[in-house]
Amino acid sequence: MRFRLLVVSTEDGFIAREPGHPPADWASPEEQVVFLGAVAAADWAVMGRGTHEAAPRPDRRRVIFTHGAKAPEWRAPTQVWLDPEGLTVEDIARLVASRRPLRDGLILGGAAVHDWFHRQGRVDEITLTVEPIAFGAGVPIFSGQAPGDPVAALRAKGYEPVAERRLNAAGTRLITLAATSTNGDIQGI
Ligand SMILES: NC(=O)c1ccc[n+]([C@@H]2O[C@H](COP(=O)([O-])OP(=O)(O)OC[C@H]3O[C@@H](n4cnc5c(N)ncnc54)[C@H](OP(=O)(O)O)[C@@H]3O)[C@@H](O)[C@H]2O)c1
Repeated sequence: MRFRLLVVSTEDGFIAREPGHPPADWASPEEQVVFLGAVAAADWAVMGRGTHEAAPRPDRRRVIFTHGAKAPEWRAPTQVWLDPEGLTVEDIARLVASRRPLRDGLILGGAAVHDWFHRQGRVDEITLTVEPIAFGAGVPIFSGQAPGDPVAALRAKGYEPVAERRLNAAGTRLITLAATSTNGDIQGI
């Protein structure tokens, strides 16, 4: 079972101006192609309630994090809402297995969901698109991240760039980062 974190960031390290501000409002068409391809290739996407509600798609396979589900609840045939506190990714995989086995998982944010997977040491790879714009303030990739270069912020969390290419003439960059052995608060102890 592998998990890929897919994120589009401004060049100053933000994923939204504020909760509820979806990437579709500001990311490039090329990034949207990357996003849709990754969603189609994944078995399940995992996201927070805010990200789900910013772009609800009842047809997609989603695991939605919320403190509001005391026990996992299937609120649509392929959408389960749960509180991950005390769970592992293996618990989540067992929960969804009968509908579709979880082999390739996609982590779709926001920051608190990124934090949860990072703490578990279960972010294997990051696909980062950096758009050539700045917000100045907003929602970071990980909680507590200072504004600035998102690649530097991810390096500081234990992820190293392994590939990079330009997506368009405007300067949008697609960067793949791999987890290093010191990645994650659990593995890093
Ligand atoms: N640029 C990008 O790549 C990207 C990626 C993802 C999201 N976004 C954008 O960023 C914004 C997301 O912001 P957001 O603050 O709404 O984040 P979010 O993580 O999507 O939603 C936050 C909510 O998710 C639940 N949640 C998240 N982590 C949890 C955890 N570990 N345990 C239990 N519940 C958890 C909580 O729901 P309850 O309040 O129900 O407890 C929390 O209030 C949206 O505008 C979205 O479109 C951008």
